[in-house]
Amino acid sequence: PVKRITAPQIAARKGATPIVALTAYTAPMAALVDSHAEVILVGDSLGMVVHGLPSTIGVTIEMMIMHGQAVMRGSHRAMVVIDMPFGSYEESPQQAFRNAARVMAETGAGAVKLEGGSRMAPTVRFLTERGIPVMGHVGLTPQATHTMGGFKTQGRETDSWPAHLQDAVDVAEAGAFSIVVEGVVEALADRITDAVPVPTIGIGASARCDGQILVLDDMLGMTGRVPRFVHRFADLGRAADDAIAAYAAAVRDRSFPAEANVYR
Ligand code: KIV
Ligand code: NA
Repeated sequence: PVKRITAPQIAARKGATPIVALTAYTAPMAALVDSHAEVILVGDSLGMVVHGLPSTIGVTIEMMIMHGQAVMRGSHRAMVVIDMPFGSYEESPQQAFRNAARVMAETGAGAVKLEGGSRMAPTVRFLTERGIPVMGHVGLTPQATHTMGGFKTQGRETDSWPAHLQDAVDVAEAGAFSIVVEGVVEALADRITDAVPVPTIGIGASARCDGQILVLDDMLGMTGRVPRFVHRFADLGRAADDAIAAYAAAVRDRSFPAEANVYR
């Protein structure tokens, strides 16, 4: 079996060719992504994308483990990173380690990701010093939607830049092997990428990052409204709707099952 890409290999990609990352939540989608991406993220976006939840707040560690196991079964080459869900790591470094160790042990994934800047740095250090690679996540952090007052692009006012820069620097210094930078203006993404020694992986954060990530279902056109930072590389939602409509019509007019589909 091919050995998977490791956290040190991703860390070494700073300033090199862009890192390709996508989310996946299921084995077949992970298999598709595995051929093309270095990183597969089992994002807590799965709460909205596949479970119909209103936000990521209700996602549980059991959900992350179940989807993490599926993604590991479907892939063999990419590094699999699993999001720590809301409530599973914020209380203390010890709580974070206990839950992250469970995620690592029960899935076999290569790393966990957790949201937060300077305030989470001690937790990032606690995990990395004990053998759990951590991907950071700064800028717009969806799990903090209630305190941030919704999803807002960060860094529009330059007086917010020092705090955002400090967040990224502290997470990197604490040992994160890479950092997702979400929902920030291009000029701030540029500053953050220059300020940290590990790769930044952008989403809604311009091309001034060391890599890019998107929610797979968004870029495939399987979700409804998508924000400006998403490009729909396909329209699978339309293709699926057309196919289901054709099936329904064929059942109703008895053209399906056809001769070729029947056992004699
Ligand atoms: O949950 C998720 O899919 C994410 C990425 C969008 C970075 O955190
Ligand atoms: Na996430």
